Amino acid sequence: MKNLNRREFIKQAGLVTGSLILFPAAASCSYKSLSDTSEIIRIRPSGWNPVLYNKNRGNAGAIPKSYLDDINGPDGETKHIGKHLPYIPEIDPSIIPKGFVPIMWGNPEKGYFPHPNAGTDGSSNSGGHWYNRIRIRKAVRWCAQTSETVFNGWPEIKPGDSGSYAVFNRGEITDKQGIKTIYMVMLPPDVNPGDTIRIQADCLQHGQYIDFVTL
Ligand SMILES: [Fe+2]
Repeated sequence: MKNLNRREFIKQAGLVTGSLILFPAAASCSYKSLSDTSEIIRIRPSGWNPVLYNKNRGNAGAIPKSYLDDINGPDGETKHIGKHLPYIPEIDPSIIPKGFVPIMWGNPEKGYFPHPNAGTDGSSNSGGHWYNRIRIRKAVRWCAQTSETVFNGWPEIKPGDSGSYAVFNRGEITDKQGIKTIYMVMLPPDVNPGDTIRIQADCLQHGQYIDFVTL
């Protein structure tokens, strides 16, 4: 990588990153902060168990109280936590916008239920049911940029949104309660093919979930 001084680096980053958050090095990038248990895990440890991690984090406040019986219940892994974990679907690469990664939730190959989506038309969930904020950070111990992609509605893209939707395979985005929805999510510019990224995603109905995927 080119050796940039900090001012040049910020200037460069600013050219391409309207929604990037540059965390001050001293505040959140020191090794000391890694021992702070309140901080979200940064790298995928060996034996990473996203179901257990999100169950514990959910019970500690990241998941609404009204959903805790479900995540702690007998179907919690597949129907509730697994349903909210991200994966990268195999799709035609030509439909992926440059600098974005396609994300779906609830990988059927792992036995998880697919995550449905609903708008605010009152059909199933009055408040709507989709991921409205997705943050991505390269999974490294050291400083990294975080991208934040916002979705203010579903199934349409709204003013101010920074991502886009696509449909898996064929059909309409609203088919099968929206389970075919692909979220096109912005990558930070310091991420390259082969990197592992941390995804921090907020479901409007069911709280925040953390997991890692490798590009
Ligand atoms: Fe959900």
